[in-house]
Amino acid sequence: MTQQQLDETVEYLIKKGFDKPEIGIVLGTGLGQLADAIENPVVAHYNHIPYFPLATVEFHSGKLIYGEIEDKKVVVMQGRFHLYEGYGFQDITYPIRVMKQLGIGHLLISNAAGAVNLDFSKGDLMLIEDHINLQGGSPLAFKNVAEFGDRFVDMKEPYDVDMREILLETARKEQITLHEGVYASVVGPQLETRAEYRMIKTLGADAVGMSTVPEVIVANHLRLPIVAISVLTDECDPDNLQAIDIQEIIEIAQKAEPKMIQLFKSLIKRL
Ligand code: HPA
Repeated sequence: MTQQQLDETVEYLIKKGFDKPEIGIVLGTGLGQLADAIENPVVAHYNHIPYFPLATVEFHSGKLIYGEIEDKKVVVMQGRFHLYEGYGFQDITYPIRVMKQLGIGHLLISNAAGAVNLDFSKGDLMLIEDHINLQGGSPLAFKNVAEFGDRFVDMKEPYDVDMREILLETARKEQITLHEGVYASVVGPQLETRAEYRMIKTLGADAVGMSTVPEVIVANHLRLPIVAISVLTDECDPDNLQAIDIQEIIEIAQKAEPKMIQLFKSLIKRL
């Protein structure tokens, strides 16, 4: 990745009409409905954006959408890139750097995740308060990283406290269950074994998924305040493990998404 590539990507998007977005949003698996709430949308397909990772079959519908939500200018990633598709850490986080250079001051992230904390139920939402990187690498482990920011990025409070507080307050007011917990990221795409779920729980995680952490690391590199919400799509009880059904995961995510949209919209209004 070079600054010149970033400049070219950003120039392409500005020409398309991506005019100084204030807030970036990443939508996770099964969580595309928020895109319908965007007013005056301008759409850029990932395949057409210079230097964006080349979309895989699964991702042919990936889009970057610019527009307004609650009268704020937003840029929304409908579909993200994952390590399990064969991309590298820098590829999957490139869009975060692009959104930052477009001008966003806040980033809202969502994902689908499995609940390893068995007090949580599928269909519930979890606000990520901290994470554990189990992906075996870092998006900041490259030669010229210092040209883009600090190499040794502090991760004491990777998730923005003020935005978290707003989300918790909104959830209380609107009677939406919003757990708080630790998210562990794995590469995937295979799900975890029973022994792995036990390990992940022992390590101190409440949920596990295949995304988000690299994006959060890069956002911290860019000093970009972020929040992230997991939609819990399955219960990972090693003593009673059900075979995973991807279609069911997507359905549960879609059913729970309106709650997440409500929270994100309230937050956007207050930013
Ligand atoms: N493990 C990893 N990723 C996931 C899961 C899971 O159980 N559920 C949804 N995404």
